Amino acid sequence: MRENIHVAQATEDHHHQRQHKLATSLSSNLAKTRATAKIHIFVFFIFLFSASLSWIFTFVLGESIFQVTSVFTINSKKSVTTTTNIPKTINKIQLNCTLLNNNTTTQTCPSNYPTKFEPTITSSETCPDYFRWIQQDLKVWQETGITRETLERAKPNSHFRLVIKSGRLYVDQYVKAYQTRDVFTIWGILQLLRMYPGQIPDLELLFLCYDKPAIWKRDFNKTRKDTWPPPPLFRYCGHRDAYDIVFPDWSFWGWPEVNIKEWKKLSVALQEGNKRVKWKDRIPYAYWKGNPHVATPIRKDLMRCSFSDKYDPMVRLYAQDWRIESKKGFKGSNLEDQCTHRYKIYIEGEAWSVSEKYILSCDSMTLLVKPEYYDFFIRSMVPMKHYWPIRQNNKCGDLKFAVEWGNNNTDKAQVIGRQGSNYIMKNLEMKYVYDYMLYVLQGYGKLMKLDVTVPENATEVCSETMACPITDGRMIRECMDDSLVMSPSVMPACVLPQPYGDGELERFLEKQENVEREVEKWTDEYWNLRSRK
Ligand SMILES: *[C@@H]1O[C@H](CO)[C@@H](O)[C@H](O)[C@H]1NC(C)=O
Ligand SMILES: *[C@@H]1O[C@H](CO)[C@@H](O)[C@H](O)[C@H]1NC(C)=O
Ligand SMILES: *[C@@H]1O[C@H](CO)[C@@H](O)[C@H](O)[C@H]1NC(C)=O
Ligand SMILES: *[C@@H]1O[C@H](CO)[C@@H](O)[C@H](O)[C@H]1NC(C)=O
Ligand SMILES: *[C@@H]1O[C@H](CO)[C@@H](O)[C@H](O)[C@H]1NC(C)=O
Ligand SMILES: *[C@@H]1O[C@H](CO)[C@@H](O)[C@H](O)[C@H]1NC(C)=O
Repeated sequence: MRENIHVAQATEDHHHQRQHKLATSLSSNLAKTRATAKIHIFVFFIFLFSASLSWIFTFVLGESIFQVTSVFTINSKKSVTTTTNIPKTINKIQLNCTLLNNNTTTQTCPSNYPTKFEPTITSSETCPDYFRWIQQDLKVWQETGITRETLERAKPNSHFRLVIKSGRLYVDQYVKAYQTRDVFTIWGILQLLRMYPGQIPDLELLFLCYDKPAIWKRDFNKTRKDTWPPPPLFRYCGHRDAYDIVFPDWSFWGWPEVNIKEWKKLSVALQEGNKRVKWKDRIPYAYWKGNPHVATPIRKDLMRCSFSDKYDPMVRLYAQDWRIESKKGFKGSNLEDQCTHRYKIYIEGEAWSVSEKYILSCDSMTLLVKPEYYDFFIRSMVPMKHYWPIRQNNKCGDLKFAVEWGNNNTDKAQVIGRQGSNYIMKNLEMKYVYDYMLYVLQGYGKLMKLDVTVPENATEVCSETMACPITDGRMIRECMDDSLVMSPSVMPACVLPQPYGDGELERFLEKQENVEREVEKWTDEYWNLRSRK
């Protein structure tokens, strides 16, 4: 193991150096992401050791991952699919790719995309409840706003600076992120600009693409003026003890390295997958497959639940060895084929895991090991409505009880499974993901107490400069084509729900805890009874 970590680190450093040398613009970085043997090894070891990736052991992906990065096909004439339902009267705006037949032509950003658009349909549809957290995430800067000094303190922690000025987007990249995390994060914001032109204010933000939050509350104190307010940093997950601003992760636009399609296409496939095996015909056990060897001991701990000489532990846990898996050519099942057990376990790795939305999409009841980190949508999910809560420090006993309870109360277990999956399918429609981003950026933009300036080393980035040069990156380009927003939205953004009032959030959290405590009580009673026998 140690040796492998070493190799991974070395390869990664090599990769970084290479990227630094090449980094003139994102698109050139991307174009250079051609598969070499080294990158194969790099990708492979990143799979082994990056925690939030490790969940993919759960879903062994259909195609060879090596193939994804190596067999790039010429793809420039690929037709582009629509991503929103647009009445015929709205012109679809295709990518305007310059033919790049030699190394001297450069792709330019078009100037004919609408800069303003009035929605043609009025709507008073309210956004899902998790939008109420936006205000919570931004609250710490409410009084002071965000000055240049405050913002710049986040810079050492960031992978890139993203500037939006007059609806155009500029990126100054400091460090290359893992795989295409940064690429698809920026791509997502570009699509947001195409969806709601004229509605994103001028702003500068700093983004960190790692798994864990970086701005911990303990390091900042209102009484110490040199640390207050904390620097604003955008990330994929938050923590109750951190100030990081939670933003949707890259996988909504695709994760080509592991053959994961953009969310719109994938969620349809997952919905279909739910229909393959009827709930009652599913294996009456709790299923988890993944990499137990992450930095935190929590998953190794979970693996111990497989063994008991006194009773059937009711779990089916599988550790997967990527080396063996890779030799077999990653010939496993697709995400959508993974809904075969009545219960599925979600457990964090290093921090939150991208697998969460895929696990919850399956309408088997999710047994959710209480997470420490949260992404943007989980924060209004409710225990016993959308999932069954499992204690971190009592996993084995809780899991067995939950499964036995579910097999005794199949109707109720099915309802929880279905409600969880409906929550994801409805509240995580791509439109809402964009609406969420819109409101985060609008709220954040209002806090700007600085002159938004395009830094000297920043490059303008648009969908064309990102996608057009990729004529040989089959899946990267496919994810981009599939998620391309083809015209401004004729629907306005959903209406923001009231922010949490005084004490309201506390009451909500308290209610959650009460439900958890109730479940714990049942569980403990069951085990007390058994031990007395
Ligand atoms: C595409 O871009 C070129 C310049 O780069 C411009 O002349 C042409 O009109 C554009 N085509 C469309 C359909 O917008
Ligand atoms: C473009 O540049 C690459 C490497 O920099 C080179 O291998 C290739 O032959 C060049 N293509 C043309 C058409 O000049
Ligand atoms: C590259 O292509 C452009 C436009 O097609 C052309 O003007 C230019 O002369 C070409 N450069 C070389 C080195 O072939
Ligand atoms: C901030 O500093 C004050 C005074 O030094 C201290 O009393 C308080 O506990 C600190 N707050 C936090 C959150 O650390
Ligand atoms: C499930 O039913 C069996 C048989 O009635 C019972 O012994 C067991 O305690 C029940 N378990 C739970 C968790 O309800
Ligand atoms: C821009 O990039 C150059 C070359 O990498 C570097 O020397 C310079 O300091 C950068 N400027 C800023 C403002 O970061």
